Amino acid sequence: MADKSVLAVYPGSFDPITYGHIDVIKRSMTIFPNLVVAVVGNPYKQSLFDFEERVDMIQAAIGNKKNIRIDMCSGLLIDYVRSIDAKVIIRGLRAISDFEYEFQMALSNNKLNSSIETLFMMSSAQYSYVSSKLIKEIALLGGDISAFVPRPVALKLNDKLKKYKRF
Ligand code: PNS
Repeated sequence: MADKSVLAVYPGSFDPITYGHIDVIKRSMTIFPNLVVAVVGNPYKQSLFDFEERVDMIQAAIGNKKNIRIDMCSGLLIDYVRSIDAKVIIRGLRAISDFEYEFQMALSNNKLNSSIETLFMMSSAQYSYVSSKLIKEIALLGGDISAFVPRPVALKLNDKLKKYKRF
């Protein structure tokens, strides 16, 4: 039975949100009914969309859900998680290639604050290869991204990439 008192955070770049992310959100909600989806700055990644645009796309993709809050965080993730009194960080795992980085992050976050747990959710098989990075590349090169992102996200992405398209 889900523990209504535990707040979980699902952090990520969400640049943009994909069906893979949405799948993790839906499945997380069955375990943690109170969920914060946090758009987090990744210091090593240049984002295509600014924070507000990413939040708006998540909102459009998941609709208004009573128990989901969408937020932004630009500092250390673990400090943000503690500041909202959440206890769990959820991360999706797609493939073995994700593991090394996720393992390092989880252990580092645990070292910074051992009262917050990172839980990993294996991606559903049909989304195990989906990544925001490849979706942006497909869109940039004129491919159909409707299988990977909801329509409002596809429209926003195609619009955003217009200025980069040369053909
Ligand atoms: O969707 P992503 O890009 O895989 O998400 C990575 C993210 C944003 C969760 C990670 O880069 C992060 O936590 N950034 C915040 C800065 C931070 O806390 N860095 C230390 C991590 S141990």
